[in-house]
Amino acid sequence: MSVSKRPASKSPASKASASKASASKTSAPRAAGGRSYRPETQLVHGGTTRSPFGETSEALFLTQGFVYETAEQCEARFKGDEAGFLYSRFSNPTVAMFEKRMAAFEGAEAARGTASGMAAVTAALVGQLKAGDHVVAAKALFGSCRWVVEDFLPRFGVASTLVNGTDLEQWRKAVRPNTRVFFLESPTNPTLEIIDIGAVAEMAHAAGAKLVVDNVFATPIWQSPLALGADCVVYSATKHIDGQGRCLGGVILASEKFIQDHIHMLLRQTGPSMSPFNAWVLLKGLETLHLRVRRQTDTAATVSVALAEHPKIVRQIYPGRPDHPQAAVARKQMRGGSTLVAFEVAGGKAGAFRFLNALELVRITNNLGDAKSLVTHPATTTHQRLTPEQRAELGIADGLVRFSAGLEHPDDVVGDLLTALEAV
Ligand SMILES: Cc1ncc(COP(=O)(O)O)c(C=O)c1O
Repeated sequence: MSVSKRPASKSPASKASASKASASKTSAPRAAGGRSYRPETQLVHGGTTRSPFGETSEALFLTQGFVYETAEQCEARFKGDEAGFLYSRFSNPTVAMFEKRMAAFEGAEAARGTASGMAAVTAALVGQLKAGDHVVAAKALFGSCRWVVEDFLPRFGVASTLVNGTDLEQWRKAVRPNTRVFFLESPTNPTLEIIDIGAVAEMAHAAGAKLVVDNVFATPIWQSPLALGADCVVYSATKHIDGQGRCLGGVILASEKFIQDHIHMLLRQTGPSMSPFNAWVLLKGLETLHLRVRRQTDTAATVSVALAEHPKIVRQIYPGRPDHPQAAVARKQMRGGSTLVAFEVAGGKAGAFRFLNALELVRITNNLGDAKSLVTHPATTTHQRLTPEQRAELGIADGLVRFSAGLEHPDDVVGDLLTALEAV
């Protein structure tokens, strides 16, 4: 499975991107003799716009707005008659570089950066919906995503149905005449279930709905939901895209029409904008994304082997393993395993806490995709809002731990995990 198997990028040329062009020069990647560059090259050069100073690294345009030579020029910009930036709530050169680089790598026509992953998820859903509409979502969602679907949308007259995402029949049965959006993440947080994106997309389209996929756990390295049939992909860039625990960010990727119809005005007028500084950090993160994710995936696979027969491990879930419950779907739609492993430690919450407290190198936190190996106890953190019954239904046992592989030497990570298991 290799990243170079992903589909070639479509041209992001569009009215909106033209209107965001600046006086600076877009200089990379250059198409030499019609050559298109491979994904890894897009991660380093995609979307780069150089200022007249010709800087090597992307420039950080830390400005809230822009000045105009004349009132006539200002009017022309606002009318859309002249290309250029207007105001950093919705257009900034550094953020635009991040958006173009993400779009080039994902094979999307358009992208919009947001302040956080949750801003991206919320905008991708809210932007398509109005009172009277209905959403179907997989119930295995990150806690905040589930809150948006289950608690927040109904306040505005949008009904929602949560289904077991791995059971295609449940998606089909949940459809109503007013269903407008299907929403899922795969692999799911934290139990790493795999949902058949192509099959759900087909069902959504047959129902006249659009499919939004939160691709955070797969990363753009291992899975391309748009190529599988999804209409919109969202990321928390806070995770692997930064990958070094420095900042929050999010991104929405889709066709130019989807972005124009559902996202652009919502972000522009309501303002959950990506900071130019964060966009700059995330551009740097993208340059090394494929190296980090590959290394983290190798380490996660090594950890899953080390824990497989361990007497203190009750259950383990790793999408790269043949014993994963949806291994066949994982092989069909993912190009690699996962940087995460979920496992249940013997002794329930007390056993899990003894294990977490005995770790020295691997740190306890709720983030993932970082250079540092991290562990999370979902039942008391990301999914503590759910009732014990809801957690049990999702397989979030009190002993469940989510491990996110970092960039340390794999032997040190495995050693720390095995030593800590002795305390259980
Ligand atoms: C699957 C998933 N989606 C969305 C988010 C939200 O991202 P952020 O924390 O950047 O708002 C998270 C955060 O953990 C997540 O795990």
